[in-house]
Amino acid sequence: MATSILDSGDRRPTARERFERIRTVEFSDSIHPSRQLAQEASVLIREATKENPFVMGLATGSTPVPFYRELIRLHREEGLSFRNVVTFNLDEYHGLRRDHPESYFRFMHDQLFDHVDLPADQIHIPDGTIDIDAVYDYCQDYERCIEQHGGIDLQILGIGRTGHIGFNEPGSAIDSPTRMIALDRLTRRDAAADFLGEANVPRFAITMGVGTIMRARRVVLMAWGENKAEIVSQAVEGPVTDIISASFLQHHENATFVVDETAATCLTRNRCPWLVGPVTWSPAMMRKAVVWLARKIKKPVLKLIDEDYNENGMADVLAEHGGAYDVNIGVFNQLQHTITGWPGGKPGADDSYRPERAIPIHKRVVVFSPEPQDAVVAMGGTLERLVQQGHDVTLICQTSGNLRVADMEARKFATILEDIATGSQAWPEQQSYARTIQGLLDQKGEFGIDPAPVRHLKGLILRGEARDAAEACSLNEIKIRFLDLPFYEDGRYRRFNLGENDITATASVLAELRPHQIFTTGDVADPSSLQALCFRALLEAWSRDENRPWFSQCRVWLYRGKEKPLADHEIDMAVPLSPIQLERKINAIRKFQSIRQDEWEAASLNRTNATNYDSLGMAEYEAIESFQMLRNPRPH
Ligand code: F6R
Repeated sequence: MATSILDSGDRRPTARERFERIRTVEFSDSIHPSRQLAQEASVLIREATKENPFVMGLATGSTPVPFYRELIRLHREEGLSFRNVVTFNLDEYHGLRRDHPESYFRFMHDQLFDHVDLPADQIHIPDGTIDIDAVYDYCQDYERCIEQHGGIDLQILGIGRTGHIGFNEPGSAIDSPTRMIALDRLTRRDAAADFLGEANVPRFAITMGVGTIMRARRVVLMAWGENKAEIVSQAVEGPVTDIISASFLQHHENATFVVDETAATCLTRNRCPWLVGPVTWSPAMMRKAVVWLARKIKKPVLKLIDEDYNENGMADVLAEHGGAYDVNIGVFNQLQHTITGWPGGKPGADDSYRPERAIPIHKRVVVFSPEPQDAVVAMGGTLERLVQQGHDVTLICQTSGNLRVADMEARKFATILEDIATGSQAWPEQQSYARTIQGLLDQKGEFGIDPAPVRHLKGLILRGEARDAAEACSLNEIKIRFLDLPFYEDGRYRRFNLGENDITATASVLAELRPHQIFTTGDVADPSSLQALCFRALLEAWSRDENRPWFSQCRVWLYRGKEKPLADHEIDMAVPLSPIQLERKINAIRKFQSIRQDEWEAASLNRTNATNYDSLGMAEYEAIESFQMLRNPRPH
């Protein structure tokens, strides 16, 4: 039977949870717990009456969306009524009108309120248009209003990467009330894609305080995806501190964290399971543990001694494997075998301990790139090697990437075209096109949404740059394809909806190219990200091809970007780059001029990989691109 989310029961913490100071329930994905929570909440909603309504505190953002979807389903299919529910939203950006596409008012109506029978006068969302001088009184009224409704019965929370709940950024006190707050840099950066640029993200927000949240009778914080893993572990296992406002929930009587397995990866129970209880010392577990130990005490693997293992909770590994010397050698070899200059396999070599098979010598390789720049940034050096080592490489840009392109790039193109067309009597259509684009850019203004012709033009600009970048990686022009997946073309970041057409388009390219090797993004840390969706499209497409002959011979390799690079113990293939090769990769990334891609950031990530390997006792390289093998490619 699934563990209840809302009812913690009367039980003592298990050994696994010894390090955890907030009850944390882990699920394999985000959909099942969201549905379960909605169903558990629906029981309480059905018990509510007009006189005694159920008061819910609600959050926005991508985290609660599956929860809201299930509430809507329960309303439509199982007659759940919201007539006796009163809601209070946590926060709102200051300075945004309610009809702004990114306002939380609009979000809540799109995601929940417009689809259920909750009366409008029972909905409360802080008003972002309140005049600055009136904000203090307004916030006090908001608090009073919550009290008048008897306080919050169930508070739903997400968590920001700064550890914020609501918009209680670092420095918020445990008893802070509803108030205006300046948003943290990281929070604004995380919202940058939604607002099409960090400069457009509001600087201030009105938020319920930590004190307001702490007074709720029950609190459930949900967190999905690996990019929440670090902050979840700090909030649950670290000290209570105003630097991480979610850590205050350690003092709440009835708070539960609900996490998927990726958001749980940094909890001690998963990060160092050997510290929590007995583990099976598989080769992968040994590598993880020994790399952790070497990092912790800053020693290369081959210099670890018995005492290091004993003093750091790993005595049983010695008991099982004889002593530090044998364990060290085993893990050193595992790490050593990940390093290869032949990412497509080395012809004629014994490949028993190599990451990739030697045969077939010339492989059909498909490299998927969610937006055109992603693959070049993550694996430009490997791409070049694959081509130069004679493989038949095709680069597939899954989406046009047009949302990344700045307005000024489109304007620049339109202006040049207009100048040319105006000088030539024969080009009235071009002149009119150029003027249309300029007019559309003027009309949409600062926060507006690009109309289709502008997005199309921006996509074409990026296409040209992608071709140049691919050429800089030695790839012939005909070997780059643009899928322009439909879900992207009329969507916005974090609001994309993957559809059947996206999967069919991906499946047909796989069926045509029948790859021996696929390289694709493993950047699924944020399940609502574009990369995660493109990855899902690939997995869905892949699972439809299961019975085709090429399928069983294909290996899938994952690359990662800067948000969540592979940890050393996760790397299955490490491709070293010489200083010259790294220089060429930097040059290839520079071709993406219209999106200001930071080539130095990519290079420094590759250099860090090399330094890390070096400090574990491997050879010292200039830079390394790293990959993980996808062992069980199945869509959830
Ligand atoms: C939003 C809110 C924030 C979000 C947090 C996580 O109302 O209160 O604390 O919950 O920023 O955002 P997502 O869910 O988009 O990762």
